Amino acid sequence: MSRNLLRDYSSDSETDNPATGGGEAKELHRPVMTGRVMEVLSVEREEWYVDATLGQGGHTCAILALGGRVVAFDVDPEAIARAREFLFPGHEERLILVPANHRDMGEILASWEIRPRGVILDSGWSMNQAGSERAGLSFEGTGPLDMRLDPTLPVTARMILEESSAEELACLLSNFGEEPLAFGIARALVQSRSRGRLPGTPRDLAAFVSGVYYRKGFRRSRRHPATRTFMALRIAVNQEIDSLVKGLEGVRPILQPGGRLAVLSFHSREDREVKHLFRNWVREERGELLFPKPLVPSDEELSENPRSRSAKLRVFIAH
Ligand SMILES: C[S@@+](CC[C@H](N)C(=O)[O-])C[C@H]1O[C@@H](n2cnc3c(N)ncnc32)[C@H](O)[C@@H]1O
Repeated sequence: MSRNLLRDYSSDSETDNPATGGGEAKELHRPVMTGRVMEVLSVEREEWYVDATLGQGGHTCAILALGGRVVAFDVDPEAIARAREFLFPGHEERLILVPANHRDMGEILASWEIRPRGVILDSGWSMNQAGSERAGLSFEGTGPLDMRLDPTLPVTARMILEESSAEELACLLSNFGEEPLAFGIARALVQSRSRGRLPGTPRDLAAFVSGVYYRKGFRRSRRHPATRTFMALRIAVNQEIDSLVKGLEGVRPILQPGGRLAVLSFHSREDREVKHLFRNWVREERGELLFPKPLVPSDEELSENPRSRSAKLRVFIAH
């Protein structure tokens, strides 16, 4: 494999990069279970690892610090631009930043003849994206109802709300968000739409869903009532489940024998997909599980970073 090719890829993509310059994160994203992830990847010097979800680079940084080399993917051009500015200098020989969906990582790595020793996929979105008005992921957002992590994707959350029937919306909220009030919320949204009053911003949508909860008699809950609605729309807009499954299926065959595939997921729908995929591979004798049950954050991490509470880490070892 040509190192120049790798370096060229990094600099070409900078030219193409539509990033606006990154912008400072409103809140720093804390990478989840970093110590455990490094343990399970068992990082070796000079070997290639893949960070399928670069984000703010916590896992990438940890692999680099242990002497590994990293190919890091992210669909968000701002994540790539930030890493190019803060992580890339000094690591030019050991880090390749790829502004692409991890759904294609197997093909891209194979074309570079890279067989990784390990992969970490830390799904979802990071804190700075929640603070970005562009993405419209925060309950307080006053920008457009967008929710695309990759701004080139064709469908926004607003388009889904404008174009779906009540049944389609209910199905989406139930399937991707496991929202218990899926039908009530979907019906209320479609009725409101017919009166020309669809929520226009993330803040409006959060208030709208809270209103449905209130009318149904729900008064208190640990989580914001709109949590599941936002999650479902974000998963649909970014085709997260499909990308996850295609990405894992694509990268598994090119792992080195003994290579490890570690997936951190944050909701049950996603964790179920990973569990089934890994189980099927074990049945097909393509490898084994490092642990029969998923690992979860330690009490110490939970108290320091309550956002890690729903994390589950599953690890597959390739034969
Ligand atoms: C939870 S964050 C990762 C945090 C990261 N591990 C860290 O230490 O900062 C998830 C990141 O994955 C990116 N992402 C989500 N779906 C993706 C996909 N299909 N392909 C590539 N990147 C994706 C998001 O844009 C986000 O930056």
